[in-house]
Amino acid sequence: MRYIVIGAGAVGGTIGARLFESGHDVVLAARGAHLAALRDRGLTFATPGGTRTLPIPAVADPRELTLTPDDVLILAVKTQDSAAALDLWSTAPVTGGGTAADRLPLVCAQNAVENERLALRLFTTVYGMLVWLPALHLDPGTVAAYGAPLSGMLPLGRYPQGVDNFAEHLAATLSNSSFESWPDPAIMRWKYAKLLGNLGNAIEALVGHAPGAETLHHAAVTEAQAVLNAAGIPYATPEEEESRRGDAVSLHPIENIPRPGGSSWQSLAKSSGTIESPYINGEIALLGRLHNIPTPINTTLQTQSTRHAQQHLPPASMPLPTLQHLIDQAT
Ligand SMILES: NC(=O)c1ccc[n+]([C@@H]2O[C@H](COP(=O)([O-])OP(=O)(O)OC[C@H]3O[C@@H](n4cnc5c(N)ncnc54)[C@H](OP(=O)(O)O)[C@@H]3O)[C@@H](O)[C@H]2O)c1
Repeated sequence: MRYIVIGAGAVGGTIGARLFESGHDVVLAARGAHLAALRDRGLTFATPGGTRTLPIPAVADPRELTLTPDDVLILAVKTQDSAAALDLWSTAPVTGGGTAADRLPLVCAQNAVENERLALRLFTTVYGMLVWLPALHLDPGTVAAYGAPLSGMLPLGRYPQGVDNFAEHLAATLSNSSFESWPDPAIMRWKYAKLLGNLGNAIEALVGHAPGAETLHHAAVTEAQAVLNAAGIPYATPEEEESRRGDAVSLHPIENIPRPGGSSWQSLAKSSGTIESPYINGEIALLGRLHNIPTPINTTLQTQSTRHAQQHLPPASMPLPTLQHLIDQAT
């Protein structure tokens, strides 16, 4: 099988690098300065065990490849970039007839719960993947992965539910490539649990690790749990996630490459102009509106972090009392 990683940033770069290191055929799809650096010198991949440069082929889009039925698409762009990437790859022809959308499995290696829905509009066979994988991608050509002894926990299952031969095969492949993985028949239950954890991404992006940020995250989670309960959506508990992860994956330092923040923090640090919170805190706002539950905390986190991204403000540049005041006003 050949693994084509669409969006070779922090998560996609790590998955691609680890599969490549364990001997698999991998292609990284990237754009801009990152693509140029990958083509120029390969992927510089840093882990707690050391840094190396991997000569993984990189492409801009499917027109540079001849797709075959043995290809697997792993989508690892941020959610706000998913629709465009899915449009681009879905219509690519596959040898023997048909398009990628009809013929190839597509795995959503992303946070949030919207990607699988977007993918299933176009692709016949879609898998959700829980991504517990602390990584960093700030500089073109470079990705750092802080998980050790394994790089991450990546269970997957068919969307909306179920497991099949492919899910079992990919989980086994990942388990032999420095990840904890298993085929899970109810993968979205894990992804909703991860969504709760990720409600703090906007807080970290806005106020950093200010004292009191944890308390605000807790309040955002409590608000979200009320919404998920009202909507009848099942989610795993943090204890379940921790017990599955055990000692297999935890955050370790990498010499000279600190990890100042998670993926939304990194979006602001890169001044990318967009942020994932409309699909994370915004998912809770949406469900709250559908089920008549007020969500002032998550709505404010979404609007403020989106405004921050659009105005290209740096991460951790809002005082926590200001954010708290805006939430109080919304409440
Ligand atoms: N970072 C983490 O530690 C972490 C951990 C767990 C889960 N996640 C989740 O994993 C997902 C990916 O996040 P990430 O942090 O890996 O993001 P990232 O570092 O920004 O990587 C995404 C990459 O995809 C590129 N991209 C966007 N659209 C593309 C397209 N059409 N074709 C090719 N490349 C494209 C982006 O380019 P540009 O830079 O030009 O936008 C970027 O290089 C998100 O859902 C995130 O929440 C992240």
